[in-house]
Amino acid sequence: MTESPRRIAVALGARSYEVVIGPGVRNLLPEVIAGMGARRAAVVSARPARWTPSPGVPATFIAARDGEADKTLSTVEALTRDFARFGLTRSDVVVSCGGGTTTDTVGLAAALYHRGLPVVHLPTTLLAQVDASVGGKTAVNLPEGKNLVGAYWQPSAVLCDTDYLRTLPERERISGYGEIARCHFIGAGDLRHLDLTGQIAASVARKAVIVAADERDTGLRHLLNYGHTLGHALEHATGFAMRHGEAVAVGTVFAGRLAGALGRIGADRVQEHLEVVQHYQLPTELPADVDSDRLVSLMRLDKKAAGGLSFVLDGPQGAELVHDVPVSVVTDVLRSMPRDGVGPMPVAG
Ligand code: GLY
Repeated sequence: MTESPRRIAVALGARSYEVVIGPGVRNLLPEVIAGMGARRAAVVSARPARWTPSPGVPATFIAARDGEADKTLSTVEALTRDFARFGLTRSDVVVSCGGGTTTDTVGLAAALYHRGLPVVHLPTTLLAQVDASVGGKTAVNLPEGKNLVGAYWQPSAVLCDTDYLRTLPERERISGYGEIARCHFIGAGDLRHLDLTGQIAASVARKAVIVAADERDTGLRHLLNYGHTLGHALEHATGFAMRHGEAVAVGTVFAGRLAGALGRIGADRVQEHLEVVQHYQLPTELPADVDSDRLVSLMRLDKKAAGGLSFVLDGPQGAELVHDVPVSVVTDVLRSMPRDGVGPMPVAG
């Protein structure tokens, strides 16, 4: 029996859209584009052309590449110049196909070209399906930092074809579970018993509610950054040798331990953080060679930080943003974390 697609609405008034999840849903592309009334399409894809169904309208195919190195303003310029050469107008549509770096970059190009063209995302990685392609955050990197130039630009539809996920290398697939694991602690509940489509749908459904309530990231949307404060620091400190989902996974274990150290949650809940991350076969230990003080310095640069150190932490009322967490507690928790292949670091006396 064919699995029916799951449909999750992101309710944003006139800019509402659906995220459709399931095997083969990429084939809904011509129907989605016809429903939008678009006349022509620019299909930007980091995957082979055959991975994208014909959009059902005259189209140009533009090859792209996944990866932070190509997530730049020059890529946005090149894409928008391709759009212009094809004669794309505001009655047309952009389609992106690839991982989160591609949906971010193409989303920004769509937001800027003619001051905004509709965009449909076909995310091909688990991370992009669960998080990056949903919610309208688009951005590119500068040499000075990641995601420094961007815009909120909601897609018109997101088609999360789970068939794409069968092509992922094992490490990339497991990394995607980092964003699913953190959903456990931000109100999605325990997703461990669900199949993959169910896990993606539940994660997207939780994100959809949060984005609908706080599209511009002024409050509730911070929850989506559970585990990310240390996660981002780990990505930087390891020169991006740690993948995003892996770093978020370790960041989630750390967030549990920090919430425990601050007396916000009990030992059972701290342990639950470890067990959930372990369940998804994600790493739970800090890399052996990353210095705790360096991590603290990097975490001070986090965009949620308001002077001191800020974290999204579990607590009696659920997860919330907590400011001014004492550096000494953060450092002690970092030093008590097991190290990859090393075991717990001695706590400084
Ligand atoms: N990836 C976090 C957010 O969309 O807010």
